[in-house]
Amino acid sequence: MFDLSSVDLLDAFRRELELCKVKQDEHVVVLAEPDSRGDYVAAAFGAAKSLGAHVISATVPGGNPAPMDSTRTGAGPGLTSVLNDKAAQDLLKSADLVVDLTQEGFIHAPVQQEILKTGTRIIFVCDAPDVLVRNLPQESDKERVLAGSGLLKRSETMRVTSGAGTDLTVQLKGSHPEFQVGFADDPGRWDHWPSTMVLCWPEFSDGQLVLAEGDILLPFKEYVREPVTLNIADGHIEKISGGAEAKLLDSFFEDADDEWGRSLSHMGWGLMKTADWFATALYGKSELMGMDARAFAGNFLWSTGPHPILGRESYAHVDIAMRGCTVSVDGTDVVVDGRLVED
Ligand SMILES: [Fe+2]
Repeated sequence: MFDLSSVDLLDAFRRELELCKVKQDEHVVVLAEPDSRGDYVAAAFGAAKSLGAHVISATVPGGNPAPMDSTRTGAGPGLTSVLNDKAAQDLLKSADLVVDLTQEGFIHAPVQQEILKTGTRIIFVCDAPDVLVRNLPQESDKERVLAGSGLLKRSETMRVTSGAGTDLTVQLKGSHPEFQVGFADDPGRWDHWPSTMVLCWPEFSDGQLVLAEGDILLPFKEYVREPVTLNIADGHIEKISGGAEAKLLDSFFEDADDEWGRSLSHMGWGLMKTADWFATALYGKSELMGMDARAFAGNFLWSTGPHPILGRESYAHVDIAMRGCTVSVDGTDVVVDGRLVED
């Protein structure tokens, strides 16, 4: 028996850490839990070392405070063992770059903001090896996502329509437009490999979202089979109607019993041209978090639950990737019928 998967991944991790601007003598912490992929820990460790960085591999106990199981959901509640341990937090704060290989990450845990404020960069990695390699970012992707977030920043309204019946108007004022680009290069930046998307955190949106066959529900990692209509008022889901997937969503929100479960969270569009809409069908659910689904070029991605801008802490995070939408920002089309439009 031999296991060379970490060696096989070394080039990709080295390229990723170069994109994260890891320099000689910087401090890299590879953060893992017992169920993290051992080959990723080894590949990240080796890549950091080969770039001349000081590297520490830290494994902390698993388990998170969210009521859902750790199935690579994307809810990002953080590990309880880190949330309750100042020494662990201090280690992460002392790093120049944290390679976060935990199953859920810390994106919606307030402690992550504290860590980032010290200048630490964090790159989260969770999807399957082929997904990482196929979607290895390019430096030029940053210009593309900055163009999209810049457009959102100077605009007032985003309108989303589709042939299936979606018609949602989103107020952009105060929505803190941002992006994911797949590498964490600037001090205090969190990012996710792989990802290329533009997003914002609006408070108010009104209209209806109609999910069509083939849209993707996360964290369930399921394709919609029967249309679902969601009526939205003031950024809240007022009513869900439709077939099996409507019942799935309604039950999720009911079971979550979460104050913000039915409130809309981040929304935006995908720019990752290498992403594969089919990936969700090709892999086992435990192998993916689902960044192909979240970021494929021309999707409209919206979500529910946590909203850091409005101070809403919530574990009820659903991401839904829709196809076939037209997304228009103050009259400029950025996605037309599910096709990405770029200058
Ligand atoms: Fe999300």
